[in-house]
Amino acid sequence: MITLATPAAMQQWARSQHASGRRIAFVPTMGALHEGHLHLMQTARSYADVVVASIFVNPLQFNSREDFDTYPRPMDEDLALCDRVQVDAVYAPTAAAMYPVGFETHVDPGSLAVPMEGAMRPGHFRGVTTVVAKLFGAVRPDVALFGQKDFQQLAVIRRMAIDLDMGIDIISVPTVREPDGLALSSRNRRLSLEDRRASVAVPDALRSAVEALATGETNAQALERTALRVLAGEPLGRVEYVRVFDAATLEPIPVIDREAVIAAAVWFSDVRIIDNMLLHPATDTTASTGM
Ligand code: PAF
Repeated sequence: MITLATPAAMQQWARSQHASGRRIAFVPTMGALHEGHLHLMQTARSYADVVVASIFVNPLQFNSREDFDTYPRPMDEDLALCDRVQVDAVYAPTAAAMYPVGFETHVDPGSLAVPMEGAMRPGHFRGVTTVVAKLFGAVRPDVALFGQKDFQQLAVIRRMAIDLDMGIDIISVPTVREPDGLALSSRNRRLSLEDRRASVAVPDALRSAVEALATGETNAQALERTALRVLAGEPLGRVEYVRVFDAATLEPIPVIDREAVIAAAVWFSDVRIIDNMLLHPATDTTASTGM
């Protein structure tokens, strides 16, 4: 496994792979790797000849300096994990290499970036699209893989790749969960034992909505209320939002008559947990969003 630290070194490596006829699959990360990331890297192998992972904690996408400063950065452990799942190259640039003095160009996402995470975290998706565009420019992948857990991020990045003619296939990979259902996330390690136990209310709430849909409840607000009732039973959780929306447009829908998603953001002390589950309409025999 080779580690590359500058855009120029990364591009040179990518060019040599393409020149040898190899396809590149790419998994961007901010490090603090968990089984969910490793699953993305292992899945990436089936899409290409070589796999690149990036590790970069992107200052542009954080809303608080403290959150950025305290974000875990176990670089040696992360590199060992990448090696274990046979990643071919890790791109781990410094902040100075990514954002040198004079840097001033950003990628502005559109309406998909407005609701939910966009509303709660102003500027977050602008930071994500900007860094992902830069990572794509350095890694030059044929295909890039993202976890479904960050559903809105996935939709925003897929839109960017289409709109900017990047020619990169964006693949959605199902969320990896703990045995009790909690979606894997680098932030989970910051949960206290008590909050960790309580946080299972999030997947439980989403699942209760999926089950209600399966037993015939198609009203979106009723499904949101079902999930909110479960969350209300967990006093340690502070709900930021529970939202049902169209999986393709991310707009609210009154009834589940097309592929939809229920998503939630809930605080446990100072840790924000986000999660989502797909809501398939009973009569869905038509095309899917590809998410
Ligand atoms: O999902 C993440 O870890 C980050 O948002 C990403 C895509 C690596 C961009 O910094």
